[in-house]
Amino acid sequence: MNAEGRSRLDQMPEWTALGAHRARLGDPQLRDLFAQEPERAGRYTLRVGDLHIDYSKHLITDETLLLLRELAAATGVAELRDAMFRGEKINVTEGRSVLHTALRAPGSAVIEADGQNVVPAVHAVLTKMATFADRVRSGDWTGHTGRRIRTVVNIGIGGSDLGPAMAYEALRAHTHRDMQFRFVSNVDGADLHEALRDLDPAETLFVIASKTFTTIETITNATSARAWLLDGLGAGEDAVAQHFVAVSTNAEKVAEFGIDTANMFEFWDWVGGRYSYDSAIGLSLMIAIGPEHFREMLAGFHLVDEHFRTAPAEENVPLLLGLLGIWYGNFFDAQSHAVLPYSHYLSKFTAYLQQLDMESNGKSVDREGRPVQWQTGPVVWGTPGTNGQHAYYQLLHQGTKMIPADLIGFARPVEDLAPRLVAQHDLLMANLFAQGQALAFGKTPDEVRAEGVAEELVPHRTFRGNHPTTTILATELSPSVLGQLIALYEHKVFVQGAVWNIDSFDQWGVELGKLLARRVEPALTDGAEVPGLDASTAALVATYRELRGR
Ligand code: F6P
Repeated sequence: MNAEGRSRLDQMPEWTALGAHRARLGDPQLRDLFAQEPERAGRYTLRVGDLHIDYSKHLITDETLLLLRELAAATGVAELRDAMFRGEKINVTEGRSVLHTALRAPGSAVIEADGQNVVPAVHAVLTKMATFADRVRSGDWTGHTGRRIRTVVNIGIGGSDLGPAMAYEALRAHTHRDMQFRFVSNVDGADLHEALRDLDPAETLFVIASKTFTTIETITNATSARAWLLDGLGAGEDAVAQHFVAVSTNAEKVAEFGIDTANMFEFWDWVGGRYSYDSAIGLSLMIAIGPEHFREMLAGFHLVDEHFRTAPAEENVPLLLGLLGIWYGNFFDAQSHAVLPYSHYLSKFTAYLQQLDMESNGKSVDREGRPVQWQTGPVVWGTPGTNGQHAYYQLLHQGTKMIPADLIGFARPVEDLAPRLVAQHDLLMANLFAQGQALAFGKTPDEVRAEGVAEELVPHRTFRGNHPTTTILATELSPSVLGQLIALYEHKVFVQGAVWNIDSFDQWGVELGKLLARRVEPALTDGAEVPGLDASTAALVATYRELRGR
């Protein structure tokens, strides 16, 4: 650390050593690495909790791993990690602690933010959520007309939507199947319209989830939902209390909106939006899966937290995954990272990780405000693997880009599938293993020729291979395993932000668009003169008004 802050990453000897090592490796081939090391698959496998992680199909040697760990040590990853767990204000630009790990700590833990042990409050909210969730699930909590709640509509956006929506899909097999759960986020009225069009207001509960309770999309949708409810019931404001609950850090705004703060589930400014679905933001999820499963999920998170906090560097899986991302992003110029789950239930998993990773590490100044001179967070993308195979895997296999990928799969399908569908599981997983193999080892021109392929087609049918993947396997997608997976990625993102010396916990980059949208809206609705519109945008606004018939 120098007087102005941490030394520049690209001037650190550990960084330079990695660059030199990369140059020495030249064009490493997975085929060669595996041929040279018969033990590689076993040696490059780690386990954390229920997760089995194979990282043998990476363009690395023992020396690479050593140098990456030295980089982590030199950049103070462990020190920043410990500061995070201790509740220090490592979110420097907002002056906040970063304590999502406290949300899943056992009741006996002592974790302080601003000198206050936050654990009792965390558990008090969990208990309040559990009581409420049980009442809704059992039918004890009724709507204004005395009918039981059949549908829960979560209204939120970003971290207040993606987490509960993703986890609801992931754990669908564990949900209350006699109830429906819907997630509305988009300010496009079509989202709310489609969510509500076949619902009975008398049986509908809205969970308004917003950390700040000022987010325009959420407040607009919540206001429209309230009007829909009151119109549908033909009732007055007093009906709101039985049909609207809020999840927020902002009691004042919740009350201003007209929701009784007795029906508010609290969380705290030391929980980032994209790290919040294990807080009260998970209320609709808890109603869906029940408090018991929610607690199992928290235990899964906690298990990986403890691993990250205590495991030695050589066995520390989030550290390893974070460093591998740095290896490719900074030393191979990889621009993106694909997350490819082989599970229908993980259909929203990658979308969730997009916010987690890209909102955290999409930064171009360091923690001291200096422009960074190195690549930071990758573009994270992907959909469930089998569908991707028939869409974009072509580019993964034969395109020109390096795209490291994670393949995620489970040994068992969820328990309530019909026997015929259970049998399909081996085919699903055969695809995962086949893709890992094809991406890594490809097919050489000689192998293609040996199949009798005409010479002019050989280049087209050759697979270069050498595409790095991590394979993550678990027995089944249980609540605990979901918690373990999410915590794994949270800490991976943390590691990368720490090495790059960026603040992974702010998100100033979303502000400008919000501000301009507010400014431009009157131009669309009333044709108001909006100062400062650039010529292109002004022309687009004029065209919009014309097309809109205004
Ligand atoms: O605009 C980005 C963001 O602030 C995210 O970080 C957050 O998850 C989302 O908006 C929703 O914010 P809120 O929960 O305050 O409505």
